[in-house]
Amino acid sequence: MKRQLDALAKHGLAAGDAVRPQRADWTIDQGWADYTAADHTTWRTLFERQRRLLPGRACDEFLQGMRDLPIAADRIPDFLELSDVLKGRTGWQVVAVPGLVPDEVFFDHLANRRFPAGNFIRRPDQLDYLEEPDVFHDVFGHVPMLVNPVIADYLQAYGEGGLRAQRLGTLAQLARVYWYTIEFGLLRQADGLRLYGAGIASSFSETTFSLDDPSPNRVRFDLERVMRTQYRIDDFQETYFVIDGFEQLLELARIDFGPLYDHVRGQPEFAPGDVLPDDTVLHRGTGRHHQPG
Ligand SMILES: [Fe+2]
Repeated sequence: MKRQLDALAKHGLAAGDAVRPQRADWTIDQGWADYTAADHTTWRTLFERQRRLLPGRACDEFLQGMRDLPIAADRIPDFLELSDVLKGRTGWQVVAVPGLVPDEVFFDHLANRRFPAGNFIRRPDQLDYLEEPDVFHDVFGHVPMLVNPVIADYLQAYGEGGLRAQRLGTLAQLARVYWYTIEFGLLRQADGLRLYGAGIASSFSETTFSLDDPSPNRVRFDLERVMRTQYRIDDFQETYFVIDGFEQLLELARIDFGPLYDHVRGQPEFAPGDVLPDDTVLHRGTGRHHQPG
């Protein structure tokens, strides 16, 4: 199954002047009334299969967020309705964008507690093919976690950190932290390993691969290790990093990355599938999925 995940890595990649909206922050109206019956059906198909998979696989906070928000199978959510609930809980809102937006626009939204979500939905023949983040990835995958106060703070801090990393030329290192937490993070909760990353939560095949498949490594999250680790943009991850609790992310939101960037700069980088002597390995992957042939 071909997968195209570059876009998830690059929420902020400039989409080109051809689609540049009129507003400086790239927001557009969601245009909810313009969704077709087929669009809502695609949403339902995606929603239903994830709803069956996620109990026992998504972390408690994700499932709670799903219950708390006006997200249901029958229709693509209205961003205004989502924002009404989110604002009261964590001060976040969901704003519509046409797709990818430039880095600084993306970070500025996050720093101001606005989550930019693609307003379009993938075609019915592309259920597992994502060229850029659509409304299912962005809303189903990301928004439930924004109900959680720790993730809410963490993502705002990431936006602020992103603006700073741009100035420092360290965006690649920071992006890996986002990638291995917000997009592809796993959590060790009392009753077992769970997912909280949006890239997993919104993907039928990666939900089971990340948790159940013997192929990938599952390694305890370590900030500097992650900052030095490359990731897959064209396939499932070779390594998933596991946090012990969301307090770990809150710590990340509070620390000064400046000295870390200095420390990491010039150090060797690690390939996506590397396992290191200092790693706390929860599962040593067979690597089978990524072996050629
Ligand atoms: Fe995402």
